Amino acid sequence: MDTNELRNGYKRAFPNGGEPRFFYAPGRVNLIGEHIDYNGGYVFPCALTLGTYAAIAKRDDNIMRLFSANIKPLITVSTDNLEYNPEHRWANNPKAVTKLLMDMGHTLGGFDLYVWGNLPSNAGLSSSASINVLVAFALNTIYETGLDPIEIALLCQRAENEYLGVNCGIMDQFASAMGKKNHAILLNCNTLKYQYVPLELGDYRLILANTNKPRALIDSKYNERRAECEYALEILKKATDIQNLCEIDFEKFTEHSKKAFGEDTIKEGMTSASLSAEAIAFNRACHAISENDRVKTAVQALSKGDISTFGKLMTASHNSLRDFYEVTGAELDALVQAASDFKEMIGSRMTGAGFGGCTVSIVHKDKIEDFIKKVGQQYTKSSGLVADFYVAEVDDGAREIY
Ligand code: GLA
Repeated sequence: MDTNELRNGYKRAFPNGGEPRFFYAPGRVNLIGEHIDYNGGYVFPCALTLGTYAAIAKRDDNIMRLFSANIKPLITVSTDNLEYNPEHRWANNPKAVTKLLMDMGHTLGGFDLYVWGNLPSNAGLSSSASINVLVAFALNTIYETGLDPIEIALLCQRAENEYLGVNCGIMDQFASAMGKKNHAILLNCNTLKYQYVPLELGDYRLILANTNKPRALIDSKYNERRAECEYALEILKKATDIQNLCEIDFEKFTEHSKKAFGEDTIKEGMTSASLSAEAIAFNRACHAISENDRVKTAVQALSKGDISTFGKLMTASHNSLRDFYEVTGAELDALVQAASDFKEMIGSRMTGAGFGGCTVSIVHKDKIEDFIKKVGQQYTKSSGLVADFYVAEVDDGAREIY
């Protein structure tokens, strides 16, 4: 969308509004390192050319008029009353960000905000982070609140944790605020140290596939996984002094888990169908700790141009999320299976929180149409749903556009 279209949309929504400025914040795809940002692990996301756009202008009073071209109608609130209201749906995001900025002591007035997005919603590509980062970036600019992009990411994570009720990690907000064109970000979620890694895939491209599975109760399942990891950490602390699961590698984990979990729990974790809380915690830790190891190996492989190893680790990541973390579900598994049956595909996995949403696959550039056709057909046959496909392009993070 260009600024003319944004301006026209804004003018239709707010005929008497002030002169707007324009902003963009991307969604993200995570290539590997899933469900470990909140375990102090490494993640490897990149920002997309799909995201959310805004036209925004200050007002002289404290009224916020919030209009989404995707989810009408207009919502009007005042900066004096920014409590969560389920009826406000998406508009709770800009309310959350505004409230947190004001709670930090920044003086904000009202504003007219028009947003439009081209991210498939509820598809695991971080539409929520993209809106929050967009609004925080825009308010930070027009009200000169002086935050840097990492502070914006942290503020937006708090908006999810403290206001929107999702106990998420920092990955999505960081990727949206800090993305870099044609690079992925290797982010240490414990220290927030990061490194841009060129995404050089040679003749291969990243293909996103949306399961289009209606997702329900994801937030509560997500929070449940996080609590299970906290329990696993508590148990592991009996054997080793760590603050995060991802502080140790899988070898150390194997060494300590006998003492911490006990052999019976370990056996149960690997075999039984109805598990004790301890065995579930053991399984979650198995995923988190092995996933962190995979990220490190995968990034080394990519840096050497070995995308075949990178792809294999992506598929291994999916299998671990399916078997030990249990966040994939039949539809994501069916899509990854269909992709794996395609010869010119070298790695495929779910991305984001899971329970539906998208997969990301690495596919030869000359075979993309064929991939979409064959994988689409096979997926529909096994799931009864129709998948949507996107060729992912990797973009810069949040910015003002002119
Ligand atoms: C969601 C959360 C992230 C991260 C992923 C799983 O996208 O917002 O913080 O935990 O799930 O890796």
